[in-house]
Amino acid sequence: MTDQDAKASSLHFTTSVLDWYDRFGRRNLPWHGQRDPYRIWVSEIMLQQTQVETVIPYYRKFIRRFPDIAALAGADADEVMVNWSGLGYYARARNLHRAARRVCERHDGRFPQTLEEVLDLPGIGRSTAGAILAFSRDARHPILDGNVKRILCRYHAVEGPPGNRATEKRLWALADGHTPSDRVAEYTQAIMDLGSKICRPRNPLCRDCPVRAGCRAHARDEVGNYPARKPPKARPVKSCRMLLLRRTDGCFLLCKRPPKGIWGGLWSLPQLDDPHIDATRYCLEALGIDIGSGRELEQVRHGFSHYDLVITPVLCRIVTPQCPPSDRRERLWYDPQGGQEAGLPAAVERIFSLLDSQS
Ligand code: ADE
Repeated sequence: MTDQDAKASSLHFTTSVLDWYDRFGRRNLPWHGQRDPYRIWVSEIMLQQTQVETVIPYYRKFIRRFPDIAALAGADADEVMVNWSGLGYYARARNLHRAARRVCERHDGRFPQTLEEVLDLPGIGRSTAGAILAFSRDARHPILDGNVKRILCRYHAVEGPPGNRATEKRLWALADGHTPSDRVAEYTQAIMDLGSKICRPRNPLCRDCPVRAGCRAHARDEVGNYPARKPPKARPVKSCRMLLLRRTDGCFLLCKRPPKGIWGGLWSLPQLDDPHIDATRYCLEALGIDIGSGRELEQVRHGFSHYDLVITPVLCRIVTPQCPPSDRRERLWYDPQGGQEAGLPAAVERIFSLLDSQS
């Protein structure tokens, strides 16, 4: 193909995607129709690992509580986590909060406008930075999220598995080639929507695809073979015990997780990762609480991105007459029935609801 042919075919792809978007694209999402980079940023971070329908109520609540960068930067970490609680992948919330503070310190509270400055904020990669600038300023930046990768791998029959350096480089060049100079915001939404509605991972709707005629994978009847899959890795399984220390008033002890690592900054149950640690001794020495016997409850399995955690909840009788009180920084006595606001991991919420049904 000559350079000119390649340009023409790239342009054809782009106009077909935009025409399709004019007829079938989504335009009524809460973050649509406005140019506030902060709101677009929040929505893009929430949408990174979560479906649109799940995100909508969380987005509305988050924006109501933190309507602008200054409100988010001025909030304490705990409150940010409470408002993220349930969405998962909590590093996203921690980074969002840190980044809001950085915008206040380094950019006078205004969201930066260049790709380099946006990329310097915690939690924002190249594709998300491009999307934020495209949506908020119509600035011409390609994006390459999972949806776009899949479309381009199929359309151009790219052989290597995405994630591999050379493949990524090629995909970025292709994404750049298809990105128009105007209607960038609409094109960006269009290519995302095409990926989620038509060029789906499984059961793609090729009959309805606006770029089917130029799709090399479709021409070979091999859409299902693209993108190439990475060889599957065995998923490790870890296990732990979580202690349910119940006071006579029905409150349970929660401990604040360290800021980094799984469930960072959330309130969780005291956790023993080492099966050899004696729970009674741990409670006395680490928590200052004397417990009697413990009863193991039904296990709960929680999937993280890289491993599964099998949790054995242990319901413990407290013997100490006066337990050390809540300090709200590291320990909190929490009533699962009580409507108290605290950011809890979904797995801990599940343990409480199972406890409710087992007792
Ligand atoms: N995934 C990431 N960003 C998105 C957006 N703006 N619309 C739909 N899905 C998305």
